[in-house]
Amino acid sequence: MGDRWYQEAVVYCLDVDTFADSDGDGVGDFQGVIGRLDYLARLGVTCLWLNPIHPSPNEDDGYDATDFYNVDPRLGTLGDFAELLHQASNRGIRVIIDLVVNHTSDQHPWFQSARSSPDSPYRDWYVWADHEPADRHQGMVFPGEQHETWTYDRTAKAWFYHRFYKFQPDLNIENPKVRAEIKKITSFWLQLGVAGFRMDAAPFIIERTEPGNPNSPKDFDFLTDLRQHVQWRRGDAVLLAEANVEPDELPVYFGDGSGSGNRIHMLFDFMLNGRLMLALAREDPEVIIDALRDTPKLPTGGQWATFLRNHDEIDLSKLTADQRNDVLEKFGPDENMQLYGRGIRRRLAPMLGNDRRHIELAYSLQFSLRGTPVLRYGEEIGMGEDLSLDGRDAIRTPMQWSYADNAGFSTAEPEKLVRPVIDKGEYGYQKVNVTAQRKDPRSLLGWFERMIRTLREAPETGSGSTTHIDVVMPPGVLAHRADGRTGTMVFLHNLGTEDVEVDLSTLAPEADLPIDVLSDRNYEDVGKLDRLKLGGYGYRWIRLRRGHER
Ligand code: NOJ
Repeated sequence: MGDRWYQEAVVYCLDVDTFADSDGDGVGDFQGVIGRLDYLARLGVTCLWLNPIHPSPNEDDGYDATDFYNVDPRLGTLGDFAELLHQASNRGIRVIIDLVVNHTSDQHPWFQSARSSPDSPYRDWYVWADHEPADRHQGMVFPGEQHETWTYDRTAKAWFYHRFYKFQPDLNIENPKVRAEIKKITSFWLQLGVAGFRMDAAPFIIERTEPGNPNSPKDFDFLTDLRQHVQWRRGDAVLLAEANVEPDELPVYFGDGSGSGNRIHMLFDFMLNGRLMLALAREDPEVIIDALRDTPKLPTGGQWATFLRNHDEIDLSKLTADQRNDVLEKFGPDENMQLYGRGIRRRLAPMLGNDRRHIELAYSLQFSLRGTPVLRYGEEIGMGEDLSLDGRDAIRTPMQWSYADNAGFSTAEPEKLVRPVIDKGEYGYQKVNVTAQRKDPRSLLGWFERMIRTLREAPETGSGSTTHIDVVMPPGVLAHRADGRTGTMVFLHNLGTEDVEVDLSTLAPEADLPIDVLSDRNYEDVGKLDRLKLGGYGYRWIRLRRGHER
């Protein structure tokens, strides 16, 4: 894999504390992840994204750090982490970590010092106001759980700004010392061997907060600066950022407009995520076609990161009210399945009624569209959620490894587990676990392994250009193609339940000898592409041509 390794990567996201517990204390740890690297390598993962690993009171699942230069002792030592990097690298797996520098925990020594006195050297590391700002009740990210973005601190005798929960005070990006510190944090982890960062809350990091102004200006130069710094320290390091903003605002996150991608390498495609959900709910690919047509052209080196599930709620806020309602009605009808008035706190398998065909279709679609696919742990075996847990914790239950107690996640007493394992019903570990699926080549896990292997053989998928094939299609069917250095792939996806026949013979003259490389069942040979059968929820990956630039 070349310099732009991230364009051909398969990223797997996991929370160390719920993945695998090696020492039986009920909390997953680095040694536990090391023990499962062969599993990840076999699955075809080439990049691990670890959710926050720093010491933290864990009031927001680690997104509230108290020390950026260390690891949470619950997960192991820095030595264990370095060993994980080494062992992962032995298997060709890169590791990226969350960079959560929009804010710290309010327990961070910097904030403790800052609040203690106006003369503290850290006072200006945070964002303060002497009087109650007019936008105090605006801009909340977690409506319902969060009631303000400015909170009065009695010790500090001032108001401090927090985009997220009030225990997460925002760092002051205008302060050059804060900027220097953020760079130092990235240097530290790059020196240790991480391959890059998943940058949390990018739009808020660069906010030059003005009390009373809910639309404070942003300093994009900081992204250019940070990118340069990171790249000097490690040439192939990658920045993968979360910027859930309007599509027309996205290009400036990738680059300054000069044509080169000199800011963030990869951005999560939140817009596509919402549209994929809508397309699946309506059994109609129209919004995906729109997305392929409308997404802004990326500067050189820019890349999308696609996902169906991540560690948060599925955010449907970019859909219209009608569209959102359609998705909620289909995939999250109960109030208890919804969150923040905009999203769904469920995993994909239960949303799709555990219909194997539908799950394969959804992931086939994600992995065949442009961008680098990101997969959340447990999705590859079709895990479910626990709606009795609070908020986003519903989908943060321990990985289900086997039939053993606690799903093989830990040998601790069940009450000591970081979160309960799912042990009842259709998604209980007795029915859904890695051991069972590893033995069965027809399992969902077996399918993911095959699908990812096929993807590896067709690197133009994801890294090349992706276009909608604009020919008359039966309702519910999406045809798209990927073109790149390694050739051309054509993909058919039937989002509806009816069997159909598709005519793609207009593509035939340019084909070498088209062949099916992945499909939901055994279809007749591709032939002249004029009578391609496609079952309900069916999909076909067809190699059209090898190795010519279009
Ligand atoms: C976005 C993360 O995805 C989310 O989990 C976290 O709560 C907030 N940023 C705050 O860091």
